[in-house]
Amino acid sequence: MNVQQKVNGVWGSRWVFILAATGSAVGLGNIWKFPYITGENGGGAFVLVYLACIALIGVPIMIAEVMLGRRGRMSPINSMLLLARESNASQWWASVGWFGTLAGIFILSFYSVIAGWALQYMSLSAGGEFNQITGEASGAAFSGLLADVGSLVTWHTVFMVLTLLIVMAGVVKGLGKAISVIMPLLLILLLVMLGYSITEGNFAAGWDFLFAFDASKLEWNSVLVALGHAFFTLSLGMGAIMAYGSYMPEEKVSIGNTVIIIAVLDTLIALIAGLVIFPIVFANPAIEPGAGPGLLFVSLPVAFGNMAGGQLFGFMFFALVALAALSSAISIIEPTVAWLVESRMASRIKATLGLGFAIWFVGLGTVFSFNHWADYTLFGKTFFDSLDYLTANVMLPLGGLLIAIFVGWFMNAGAIVEELGPIDQGGYKYWLRILRYVSPVLLAIVFVMSLVG
Ligand code: TRP
Repeated sequence: MNVQQKVNGVWGSRWVFILAATGSAVGLGNIWKFPYITGENGGGAFVLVYLACIALIGVPIMIAEVMLGRRGRMSPINSMLLLARESNASQWWASVGWFGTLAGIFILSFYSVIAGWALQYMSLSAGGEFNQITGEASGAAFSGLLADVGSLVTWHTVFMVLTLLIVMAGVVKGLGKAISVIMPLLLILLLVMLGYSITEGNFAAGWDFLFAFDASKLEWNSVLVALGHAFFTLSLGMGAIMAYGSYMPEEKVSIGNTVIIIAVLDTLIALIAGLVIFPIVFANPAIEPGAGPGLLFVSLPVAFGNMAGGQLFGFMFFALVALAALSSAISIIEPTVAWLVESRMASRIKATLGLGFAIWFVGLGTVFSFNHWADYTLFGKTFFDSLDYLTANVMLPLGGLLIAIFVGWFMNAGAIVEELGPIDQGGYKYWLRILRYVSPVLLAIVFVMSLVG
């Protein structure tokens, strides 16, 4: 059974799995994307829908993905093949894995460009570029960065190289240790920043914006964005969590409880990031909550530039954002690398390099969509916007839909129960019912709506 142990590795313990999966989940999605899409979608009502999506759809599907990986013990493509066979279902279920590969290439291509911004902001902070900066000047600095193709490509390249180095060495080796330092540090620094926002920012306005529920602000499209983001932030729908699940040790652990820990940590970090950023935004009239992808990069320098030790804190903060992005990026590319290695198509090094180059190349499209190609749009979306929309709102929900249907309706029930670990009967029935009826219906609606607009 334990093919994976020989091929792609196995985590040292359940805790290493939790750290790695949290490392995958916590990343730019929490610190960069969540605040800016919350700003674009009007705040409180959006946050509430997002929390509901995490609890009702994200957590059940995450349990399903980990369970599938743990049962299949191979890359998502091969796990799905094996499990479909075990359950006498069609081989076409492997398409979940194929879709995941494509989604992963698209996601990492822009993810790396944004992570590159964090790398560049590390060096700008350290160099004192933000000292005493105003909201206007910070906005101008960010626009300057977007126009500078050379820097964008350089930092995108640096980030891709770092990602590939870790993946080449094997995800299991060393990763657990790195994450167990990065995650606590990130949390501490976020709390330091929270202290700044509470004392220096307009905390009441920030809090209200995030938590005051105003249903009139909610549009149908915001619901789509919230659901898509639940998938993105938990790394669901493309096999990343399935691949990590396949490296889980044999010991009997409850997958349900493990997943809840990860989802709670991920959600907390996103909410804290929101509580750091919005009070700074509302204290600076020059910064708009709906400023878009630049929100994090325009607002935080104003805080760092005006606080004691800001140069150092700014450097550390952006370094931690980059590290959090790194621990997510490796999980985006891992499923496909695992598949190439397992199928004996390439060595780990060659598989990583080949795939990495393709992703880097697609990433140039995102770089150009902020400058040379800014005016080339399809349905009003630039290349970057289109990739972001297509992956989060179409591909990941589609992957989640297929996973829910497979586990809910096709997979052998005995295998499911065996793999879930110690389970609570009530919780199990509730979970299965959600996967069978609730997730597919909601996801199908979202999927159709995001296609028709
Ligand atoms: N969850 C990560 C974040 O919030 C990004 C990520 C990692 C991801 N792996 C993924 C997104 C797989 C979608 C699918 O930053």
